[in-house]
Amino acid sequence: MNLKEMVGIEAAKFVTDGMIVGLGTGSTAYYMVEEIGRRMKEEGLKITGVTTSKATEKQALGLGIPLKSIDEVTHVDLTIDGADEVDPDFSGIKGGGAALLFEKVVATYSRQNIWIVDESKIVAKLGKFPLPVEVVPYGHQQLVTLFDQKGYEPKLRKNETGQVLVTDGGHYIIDLHLQQINDVPALAQELDTTVGVVEHGLFIGLTGKVIVGYPEGPKTLEKR
Ligand code: 5RP
Repeated sequence: MNLKEMVGIEAAKFVTDGMIVGLGTGSTAYYMVEEIGRRMKEEGLKITGVTTSKATEKQALGLGIPLKSIDEVTHVDLTIDGADEVDPDFSGIKGGGAALLFEKVVATYSRQNIWIVDESKIVAKLGKFPLPVEVVPYGHQQLVTLFDQKGYEPKLRKNETGQVLVTDGGHYIIDLHLQQINDVPALAQELDTTVGVVEHGLFIGLTGKVIVGYPEGPKTLEKR
């Protein structure tokens, strides 16, 4: 079993009958969704899912998981999602899979968030992984120039066919190659107040539990 599958299965144990569950996006979240589907089929588990991307929606529907949109629920009990990097404060970078906007919306309205990662994602400081910034297409080139002038080494994200990637929300993504982020809240605030930026991949104070996959087994870290 690979580490992503291990943590996906481990996280699904936190799902109980009747929960409204936020279903994350990515290659790690994939295994968690599969395991929830298996538990529903084999153990009679009953949940309602709220998906964070079209890809996860397709997977969940294929498994027969009943779904509601984020606007059809009063709250989400638990969201389980992957992450690209996690620091000792449980701040993280997300959006490698281009779903950061919907992921942040669902995480914000969730009573509990669990992240599932393999050991390689645990870092002392965020920033080696390029920070995704979701922007409106109108004026995006101005933002690329602005970020370039700030030394953020921006790159407009393209898809496999070389076309500009369009997110599920209809936006573009500019990846910032920062190498190291020394003041995470300050950068988040700067991006939050930049016109044309819809959302960014810095997730701060949203998760209290991270399940990390190690070759010897999964370890659940709780925020102190
Ligand atoms: C998608 C995400 C993913 O959760 C993140 O990129 C981790 O993905 P993976 O589990 O495939 O490594 O934020 O927008």
